[in-house]
Amino acid sequence: MSETHIQIENVNAYYGRTHSLKNISVQIPKKQITAIIGPSGCGKSTLLKCMNRLIDLTDGVTYSGKILIDNEDIFDRKTDIVDIRKKMGLLAQRPIPLPMSIYENIAYGPKIHGLKKKPDLDAIVEKYLKLVGLWEEVKDRLNSPASQLSLGQQQRLCLARGLAVEPEIILCDEPTSALDPVSSQYIEQQLLKLKNDYTIVIVTHNIHQAMRLADYVIHLYLGEVVEHGLSNDVFENPKEERTRAYINGTFSTELKIDSESDLKGQLCPFNFVYAKQALHNLEDGKILKLIVDDPIAVTEVPRGMEADGHKVLIVKQINKTDWEIVIQK
Ligand SMILES: Nc1ncnc2c1ncn2[C@@H]1O[C@H](COP(=O)(O)OP(=O)(O)O)[C@@H](O)[C@H]1O
Ligand SMILES: [Mg+2]
Repeated sequence: MSETHIQIENVNAYYGRTHSLKNISVQIPKKQITAIIGPSGCGKSTLLKCMNRLIDLTDGVTYSGKILIDNEDIFDRKTDIVDIRKKMGLLAQRPIPLPMSIYENIAYGPKIHGLKKKPDLDAIVEKYLKLVGLWEEVKDRLNSPASQLSLGQQQRLCLARGLAVEPEIILCDEPTSALDPVSSQYIEQQLLKLKNDYTIVIVTHNIHQAMRLADYVIHLYLGEVVEHGLSNDVFENPKEERTRAYINGTFSTELKIDSESDLKGQLCPFNFVYAKQALHNLEDGKILKLIVDDPIAVTEVPRGMEADGHKVLIVKQINKTDWEIVIQK
């Protein structure tokens, strides 16, 4: 294993009396991609939030153990939390651009850190927009509000904003789950490029994404580490039966579809309404497959379903015009 960047030792976390992380001890290697996988509610986001201590913002949380970053224990009260966060960029599930222009979204962080001269800021804005492959798309409208960008562009902007303050670590919590397939692919490509210079931790419930991206995998289940190791080993030859079951169970061909709804020819918002109705008729945990051919539905239906608290398992193009969306209630 390459050099350790983040050393997690015996971490426990409780929300009130819910024991959400149980004796977690893992190492995150430097300049590699580590994926944290596992079903919803297993503690992935909680573990990520421990790493930048965003966990402190939740009421009623208690945690213990150690997380060493560059040999400094970030749980130690003497450690400066602002310093820790400077080392880390965070890419959340949904892009949250600042309510400012595209330019200011990137320039804001460096300005706070003391950079003032316009030419320096211009150079930084250009550098990071280029790095995330957004420059060509936005260079003529840098002063427009960031909110006018598409969701996929906003997510790339947020990635650029995080990088502009020169972190060492990028933490991503399901960074593509709200995006359409093309934008997701874009973000994945960026992450693969960035791992040459950054340590990346990505939380995902998408096994395929973990396989495409990860060098190392941590499989969590009910707050415990089930298995941890090189991605190739874990995926091709898992040591634990629970990992095998999780990997197999997540493949579309092995998914048991409980109900299917053909929404071809239906336009937004009707396909959305019908999808909601179909889900309404299912029990919790059951799986619904939708077929849509309205391009808007490809992004809007999964987004709406996630907003309603359902889990989107698959969004896949199945032929020239049709898409399959698989949702678990
Ligand atoms: N703010 C919170 N208050 C109470 N319980 C929480 C909170 N956030 C998460 N939990 C609980 O902690 C467990 C782990 O949650 P989380 O880390 O969000 O899982 P994941 O990201 O894997 O879906 C779950 O049982 C969840 O219900
Ligand atoms: Mg989560």
